Amino acid sequence: MKMSVDADRCSGHGRCYALAPALLESDGDGFVTIRGSMVDVPQGSESAARDAAAWCPEGAINILDREDS
Ligand code: F3S
Repeated sequence: MKMSVDADRCSGHGRCYALAPALLESDGDGFVTIRGSMVDVPQGSESAARDAAAWCPEGAINILDREDS
């Protein structure tokens, strides 16, 4: 699984890293550090990634489930 954060949509609400602190963190300015990036979700963190995506009020987080995507 991979996840990405749309740099244009992320406006620093911080719910993602508050909900999934083992997976995501703040860049110090309130934005998530992976803003504008796509990263691999470590095994065991899939549920946290989905929760973070579901709770972002901007819909900035996308989850890619396919192994080859
Ligand atoms: Fe950004 Fe949404 Fe997280 S706006 S900081 S991706 S909750």
